[in-house]
Amino acid sequence: MAGRIPQYFIDDLLARINITDVVESRVKLRKSGKNYAGLCPFHNEKSPSFTVNPEKQFYYCFGCGAGGNALGFLMEYENTSFPEAIEELARMAGVDIPKEETSSKQIERDHQMKQQLSLLDQASQYFQHQLQASHLKRKAEQYLNKRGLTPNTVARFLIGYAPPGWDNLIKHFSSLSDAPQQLEKAGVVVFNEDKRKYYDRFRDRIIFPIRDMRGRVIGFGGRVLGDEKPKYLNSPETDTFHKGRELYGLYEARQHNRQLERLLIVEGYMDVVGLAQNGIHWAVATLGTATSEQHILRLFKLVPEVIFCFDGDQAGRNAAQRALNVTLPLMEDGKSVRFLFLPEGEDPDSLVKKEGQPAFEQRIVSATPLSSYFFESLAGDKPLDSMDARAQLASEALPLLRSMKPCLLQQMMLERVSELTGLSKEQLQSLEGLQQIHPPAPSAEASTPINNYTLSADYEEYPELLTEQPPDHLYDEIHSTASSTTNRGRASRTISLVNRIIAILIHRPELARQIDDPETLGQLQEPNIDLLIELLNYFRQHPENSLGTLNVDWNQDAQHQAYRVMIAEISHVEPIPSSANALTELRDALQRLSSRQNDSQLDRLLKKQKLSPLTTEEKKQLQTLLLSGR
Ligand code: UTP
Ligand code: MN
Repeated sequence: MAGRIPQYFIDDLLARINITDVVESRVKLRKSGKNYAGLCPFHNEKSPSFTVNPEKQFYYCFGCGAGGNALGFLMEYENTSFPEAIEELARMAGVDIPKEETSSKQIERDHQMKQQLSLLDQASQYFQHQLQASHLKRKAEQYLNKRGLTPNTVARFLIGYAPPGWDNLIKHFSSLSDAPQQLEKAGVVVFNEDKRKYYDRFRDRIIFPIRDMRGRVIGFGGRVLGDEKPKYLNSPETDTFHKGRELYGLYEARQHNRQLERLLIVEGYMDVVGLAQNGIHWAVATLGTATSEQHILRLFKLVPEVIFCFDGDQAGRNAAQRALNVTLPLMEDGKSVRFLFLPEGEDPDSLVKKEGQPAFEQRIVSATPLSSYFFESLAGDKPLDSMDARAQLASEALPLLRSMKPCLLQQMMLERVSELTGLSKEQLQSLEGLQQIHPPAPSAEASTPINNYTLSADYEEYPELLTEQPPDHLYDEIHSTASSTTNRGRASRTISLVNRIIAILIHRPELARQIDDPETLGQLQEPNIDLLIELLNYFRQHPENSLGTLNVDWNQDAQHQAYRVMIAEISHVEPIPSSANALTELRDALQRLSSRQNDSQLDRLLKKQKLSPLTTEEKKQLQTLLLSGR
């Protein structure tokens, strides 16, 4: 986006647009009283629970809770960004978008990015077209046939073919000035330093376009048709393509089903495509790199369950061990991870072809849970009959458990270590370095994710959120002296109560009305209290709104945009509240917040009293605080 879109324009645009027109051209609606109803496009359903209210210019699904205005609908339905949705609405209304000034550097960067994405898109179309070109058709098509791919699958994954030759692509773009340089930046052309020449990166290869979460082509993988080496060539890292973040097949999986429940992580392009060909449309592949923390965080934003798939050989076991180490610190309540090991010599593509979808799915169902794999990989087949073996187990398990966030799984695994070693949990906890294993917060409990897709939109826009540690401002200093002594001099920190309340509210906005007197919150001196108050006001004023609508409504000024970033960060570190306990947890957090506030108030008054006489007002306050038993 070049320049910010002025708020007055957005307001004006929304006033001109009728949400019914926007929705109706995408979802079949029928009139139902004052409203319209239809089948929800955001989850699978047989009877319509999706409604559009023209009076309020609002849509809402009683089934999945999706809701918002015309802008929010477009963003969610078309999987587009805020500016793109505005552009679409402006087109519908037949108006031009005025742009506020931004720095010329930003404009230049945005322009470059757009141009690169457009080049990649055109390149992808060129490759797809080559598959149809008559003289080459047979060879490439035969290969894809041999691999069992139907035209439908080829089309869905935009699979193409780069013909033999050194400059087909460069020539294809010959009308573009400085095409070779541009194509090189986009990663599809290589510059040979010695010969001072540009040449096509992909030659005589089957092309797998890699798309980002929004479906834009950002890079390619190319496979030889025979046994030449290297078997696969991939786009290098570019401004648009970051291997450590992207997952092949994720866009296609989400296109196939917007309410994914789980995702399977496999190794190769052909595994993703072959599985889809055989009815398993929820596999994604890392791009020739090991599974990263960013990959897993991205998947956890979308689904509660991730299954890793590994070859049955030593390399597969090594990869599984790495995946375990990366995943442990990211585990939280409500998320589950399993490990699937394939028979030696098979990969998902070959196996699903051989034994079919039901048998392969059966393997997934019986894949090993993370905790079982954890103990298998530690103990192996070794008997735990000696003190040495048990000590060894404890010393290997404890550092790994310590890397985890406090959650039920961590506690249960700690209990298992205790069972296996015969050491009590207290003994284990008193071992050097284990003080950081905390019991889970009272709130932590198995839970169902709500509105995952609205959170993932933030995630897309703020890659800086992909940090290992929550940023400092997500923490409060802990007040209890007891725990600071156990932490060997390190500043002891705990997750902020205010953030916890915010996390509960974004998942359960309707609870905003359960807070009795939000005004008193204004007197608290806590980080993020202003955000909490703003959030409360928003949900109290618009009880029917969701985080999705908030994300749209809070896009206008810098303050609200900053709030959105904050909310995304909080949602990233805070566990999702369990639906059964959310209200209790909310009340509990509010109560703790106010008593904490009382403590510091009392402290302040007592200190002041020693230095100077208190005012009548302060005396009264002190009395109340002392009488309240705090
Ligand atoms: P595999 O060698 O397991 O290939 O590489 P595959 O996926 O089974 O492919 P087919 O079935 O022979 O066509 C797995 C992944 O490792 C990366 C690619 O991402 C590939 O999909 N790889 C492999 C490369 O990047 N370069 C290579 O030369 C080989
Ligand atoms: Mn294979």
